[in-house]
Amino acid sequence: MTAQPLLRETSTPTTAGAAQGLGDENSIWFKLTALTRAETDNPMTILMQMAERYGPVIPVNMANQRIVILTEPEDFKHVLVTKADSYVKYFDGLKPIFGKSMITNDGALWQKIRMPQQPAFHPDMFAEYIPYFNAAIRSKMEIWADYARTGETFEMVEQTWTLAADMICKALFDRDMPFNPHFVFKCVKIYTDVMNHKEIRLKRQAGELFEVTDEDAAKAVEAWWSVPPAVIGADPREQRERTLLKLIEAAVKDPKFPEFDEQQAIDEIKQYLWAGTETTALTLAWSLYEVSRNPEAADRIRREGEEVVGDREPTAADYSALAYTRAVIQETMRLYPPVWGLIRVASEPDVIGGKEIHPGDRVVIFAYGAHHNARFWEDPEAFRPERWMGGAAKKQVKYSYLPFGGGKRSCIGGAMSQVENTLALSQLLRRFRPEYVGPVPAGINATVTLTPKGGLMFKMHELS
Ligand code: HEM
Repeated sequence: MTAQPLLRETSTPTTAGAAQGLGDENSIWFKLTALTRAETDNPMTILMQMAERYGPVIPVNMANQRIVILTEPEDFKHVLVTKADSYVKYFDGLKPIFGKSMITNDGALWQKIRMPQQPAFHPDMFAEYIPYFNAAIRSKMEIWADYARTGETFEMVEQTWTLAADMICKALFDRDMPFNPHFVFKCVKIYTDVMNHKEIRLKRQAGELFEVTDEDAAKAVEAWWSVPPAVIGADPREQRERTLLKLIEAAVKDPKFPEFDEQQAIDEIKQYLWAGTETTALTLAWSLYEVSRNPEAADRIRREGEEVVGDREPTAADYSALAYTRAVIQETMRLYPPVWGLIRVASEPDVIGGKEIHPGDRVVIFAYGAHHNARFWEDPEAFRPERWMGGAAKKQVKYSYLPFGGGKRSCIGGAMSQVENTLALSQLLRRFRPEYVGPVPAGINATVTLTPKGGLMFKMHELS
């Protein structure tokens, strides 16, 4: 398979009225900043207050665009499951990041693209991936040992993001990361920080510009596009046959599947390197923030690791037995769902909760709101991993917890990310005591994902 020209996408036509960049005035991400920026420490609060005041279905008109915010689990199910075909994926402004990858498609083509890749995410594959997850965790430990020696303060999401990328490259692509992850992910952040695009938007409004020419954003996108060809071109670590990359390459060679061309392969890799890393990384970083503030949880994770794994390398059976550590990851995703809102576009008229939905309406499934609603969660702001232990989780209201979305478009890598994060949290805490040294509570920034405002600053201590 050969690499494609990297700058091809600048000339991709967009549908009328669709946003080219995240900061475009037509982009829902930009419009939502008007609602979510009002409260500085937690922009979700204003949406929570709206839900309390205006009920479960909240239509908002913003710059000639109707946005409908949903806050009830039964309405989430309606959009994601019952009438899934009437609500299509919304990806305006994310094209430079995702290209034409599966996550952006709908209907029969989406199904055709997902099908050949699905086997790589079957739980039976996790046992094969775990040695590579472990290898990535060991490399991260060496970096943390240096931080512990120097006493330096560092930002945690950058650390967990590079760990998640290393895991994906090693386990799913059979490659050592053939790019500088710190540089690449800084580039992604420049692109996805919606407010950064203000300048571009203003120039465009003045009729001066149409294409994204802001230097930083353009350079960031260019750096991002250089990554998939680097992955494809790098030497395999072990020539493994059962990897996601092999499945993607086989799909490209399949004459019965002409739509799955080389650009499709490149875009699938882009998709995994963002959707499969940032979300995983945010979860692990927020979980370290929570356990740093709850030392008894950190001690329990260490004890569980000692009892279950001891001095061996963790295996798939160990993952199943690390029940408390896994519960910490689940509770972290409840408090800080990386995808705080799932967006769809209505393709036909509908009625939800007695309110009319018009074709073209942007529908926001406010997952964060359900995760923090006292009707579904006792003491919702408290960090309580025990909610996920034993039979407790069975009492939860369906669709009140959807870190991985729901219905047929739910996350392909959700179960795998829980393996990655449970093993990482368990192993890293066995050797280290990460100390969160930033403001409490940490501020939240919400654009496409829910990120810590200004990052999560830590110092590292190595346990004797
Ligand atoms: C904590 C970790 C993760 C979270 C919170 C997360 C969250 C999500 C959510 C909410 C969706 C659905 C979005 C929607 O319906 O609009 C999604 C889709 C997706 N995720 Fe994840 N994800 C995680 C990890 C991963 C991993 C590890 C991978 C792969 C390596 C991955 C790959 C994907 C892909 C390809 C889709 C699109 C599926 C489709 O459209 O059929 N994700 N993810």
